[in-house]
Amino acid sequence: MLASLDVPYLAAQPLEFQTLNDWGGSDRGLLPVENTLMIAIPELDGAIVPMVFGGRAGEADVQCTGCHKACVFEASINRHDMHTCVERTAMLAARVSKLIALRKSETAHRKVALVMFNFPPNAGRVGTAAHLSVFESVFNTLKSLKAEGYTVDVPNSVDEFRDQILAGNAKQFGTDANVHAQISTEDHIKREPWLKEIETQWGPAPGKFLTNGSSLFVLGKQFGNVFVALQPGFGYEGDPMRLLHEKGFAPTHAFSAFYRYLREDFAASAVLHFGTHGALEFMPGKQSGMSGSCWPDRLINDLPNLYIYASNNPSEGAIAKRRAGATLISYLTPPVSQAGLYQGLSELKESVEHWRKAVPEENIQKNTHVWDANAQELLDSLQAQAVTLEFLSAEPALKTLDVDTVNKAVMHLSEQILELEYTLIPYGLHILGSPISTEQSLDMLMSYASVQEGEIQDFSREMMNALIHSQSLDQFAKNQKLVLTPSLREELNQVLSMHRDMQSDSEMQGILKALEGRYIRPAPGGDVLRNPQVLPTGRNVHGFDPFRIPSKFAMKDGLYQANKILERYQADGNPLPESIAMVLWGTDNLKTEGGPIAQIFALMGALPRFDSFGRLAGAQLLTLEELGRPRIDVMVSISGIFRDLMPLQIKILAEAAYLAAAADEPIEQNFIRKHALAYQKANGCDLETAALRVFGNAESAYGANVNMMIDNGLWQDENELAETYTRRKSFAYGRSGTPVLQSDLLNCILADVELTYQNLDSIELGVTTIDTYFDTLGGVSRAVRRAKGGVAAPVYIGDQTKGDAVVRSLNEQVSLETRSRMLNPKWYEGMLKHGYEGVRQLESHLTNTVGWSATTGQVEPWVYQHLTQTFILDPEMRERLMSLNPASSAKVASRLLEASDRNYWKPEPSVLETLRRVANDFEDRLEGVYEGVHI
Ligand code: BEZ
Ligand code: MG
Repeated sequence: MLASLDVPYLAAQPLEFQTLNDWGGSDRGLLPVENTLMIAIPELDGAIVPMVFGGRAGEADVQCTGCHKACVFEASINRHDMHTCVERTAMLAARVSKLIALRKSETAHRKVALVMFNFPPNAGRVGTAAHLSVFESVFNTLKSLKAEGYTVDVPNSVDEFRDQILAGNAKQFGTDANVHAQISTEDHIKREPWLKEIETQWGPAPGKFLTNGSSLFVLGKQFGNVFVALQPGFGYEGDPMRLLHEKGFAPTHAFSAFYRYLREDFAASAVLHFGTHGALEFMPGKQSGMSGSCWPDRLINDLPNLYIYASNNPSEGAIAKRRAGATLISYLTPPVSQAGLYQGLSELKESVEHWRKAVPEENIQKNTHVWDANAQELLDSLQAQAVTLEFLSAEPALKTLDVDTVNKAVMHLSEQILELEYTLIPYGLHILGSPISTEQSLDMLMSYASVQEGEIQDFSREMMNALIHSQSLDQFAKNQKLVLTPSLREELNQVLSMHRDMQSDSEMQGILKALEGRYIRPAPGGDVLRNPQVLPTGRNVHGFDPFRIPSKFAMKDGLYQANKILERYQADGNPLPESIAMVLWGTDNLKTEGGPIAQIFALMGALPRFDSFGRLAGAQLLTLEELGRPRIDVMVSISGIFRDLMPLQIKILAEAAYLAAAADEPIEQNFIRKHALAYQKANGCDLETAALRVFGNAESAYGANVNMMIDNGLWQDENELAETYTRRKSFAYGRSGTPVLQSDLLNCILADVELTYQNLDSIELGVTTIDTYFDTLGGVSRAVRRAKGGVAAPVYIGDQTKGDAVVRSLNEQVSLETRSRMLNPKWYEGMLKHGYEGVRQLESHLTNTVGWSATTGQVEPWVYQHLTQTFILDPEMRERLMSLNPASSAKVASRLLEASDRNYWKPEPSVLETLRRVANDFEDRLEGVYEGVHI
């Protein structure tokens, strides 16, 4: 029905469960049940711009202080009737009229602000967006807009376009990109309605960012009626003192001026935020149910907000929808394919196979523990190869070891190579408006098939190719001599429809449609491999109905995964852990119907309770008999995004911990109770406090900021990272759902933690791909180490990217990712073909790796050695990087040096010398000191 009406569906509602003043005065905004009913469920139908426009006055309230208007309720009103909020109603009307104006506007006159990101700000990172080749995508968008009748001056090529943005007059102003406009300080002061608030945080206008002291800069360039603009940063990225702050800050002068420029000076008909993700939606304000005092709402104001967003990120996408009124238009993540083997790896594989053939198992059994000359030679060469590739150490020589030990070592080697070869990796970046090739589609379909259970799992690439080119399924089955059972038919139809969808132009169509103020259909968010329903992209991504998380399926899987973690920890030579720290994100829970939440229930020995409508209502304990082992204590570290998206689940996890702490059970069978009672005794608090286990940010704050500390490198001691994490994440969320600062309790709980872990749910996102895994899991691990007086706890990753789980130590995970991605020519060539943006990907993978060294100390030194060899010591490669993206290349060199300075690896003196020279040379060339001088 909505699609046939083809108009935007706005979810504007009055408050039902609290008064206007309660809402207005709270940092949270909507209550969990309101959040579910008024926002999450309408989103399933494609609702946008969720807004509160009224509510009840309530007995005690005479004045609503929810916004700057501060409405006073007359004494005569009926306090139980609904009243509108003057400010919100006016904003709702303004937003609707802007959408109508957009719809009615003539294409040739429509003005589009296309906003790219630069995060954390650096000249090498302009156009940052997850999985997306941004410049190529924006360039394609300009061409499509032009073809559609927009007034656009399209540059001649993507290189020319990139140059106009990146270079232009940037050198002259010392900025990361071209300065398009200057806003005088005087003008800013006159027009900035929230000047006082900004000045409190950032000092007198124009502040320190994007300014020459007399005016503020707006970066970007206008191409006819399309203004390609660069969003300013938060402003605190490089400031260790501000990063310690538990709350977020108001935007900088430059940030607020930027959005005002788009709205009022450029007079955009709509803004199109380009790629996952920016800073606007993470500005301070309520979690949901924004008021006129919330920064995202103030900044976007009534401007229609469209947002190109990765289809696999429903959680952060939801924040953009709920806090900044965005309509998401999803884009496909890059094709996924097997990592394959390269260089030394394929030779090592051959050697292992050769060994197996030359010295077959039967012969080994008969062997009298002495290797003959031939076997000795083979073992020597095999070991030498494995040593070069860092799989084995040189001592002891294999040939001196007994049969069993050698057998085990070769078997393990063979398994590692196999794992590497078949590990799935993303290939390159997605380009909007360039439908993927048949080969890329085949990569994706083969990867999809490999994680399925039916017959299709065994399809060869040739069969898959035949399938997508066949006239009919019956013909295909006949040619392949397959029996077309109903289930096979369904599977094949699924594959064909995926192929069609991936090659369609639905994303650009989505953009064009949204720019006409039309309806964008909803789509679930997730990974194509696990949920093909995310296709076709170009739709408005949503999550699950929160009342149904965790689902029955998730509970079953959660138990399985939790047991795997316990098994792995015990297989590493440890007893059953008493206490675990686990990181919970919104994304993986939204994609798995609450899998990670279910793991916590399983560890604690608890279950969710549902009411007669099947809605999540509370927690209950399994009996110890049913559980069959002690209840494990779990410290839950939640992301800010999880807090915003899963308020019901937070309360229920807190309830489970409380019920366990309060259960009349022997403490050796209930570690939650054991630790809670001990804390209570030592600190004289109530059980409610001692049983708090869910910790996160203060309301309206996001992230541990450990990632920004690593990026700016301005820290001396790793304990500073622990401190930053702890300051940001010490807020305990109990059964009431309201956070309370509990730093001592948190430290005490962390001191008991024996292992930390997080799930990995998406092939596209490894632990070295984004800076948020080490931010949270690394952050909590470092905080555990500090709380334990310097003793590190092991860190594990529950890799569920292929459905079934593999639990790896962090060290194993980083090694696997380094070998299958960063050191793999297939991966880095896939990136480097995108030029500037490919180098940035390399740089951020390296920075994230340093983040893991800093937070856990569990990265092998060879990782840095091999990266240096591949990207710095090879003169051709380093010049190539430098020519594509000088700022990111300089960062690669200086980051490797930093890793050596911090003792994460110890380069040979000659390597260190070269690295230093290259780093200096790159810096000089960046600054233009010795332009053209090579070493
Ligand atoms: C989340 O979904 O909670 C999340 C996603 C990305 C980074 C951090 C947290
Ligand atoms: Mg993020």
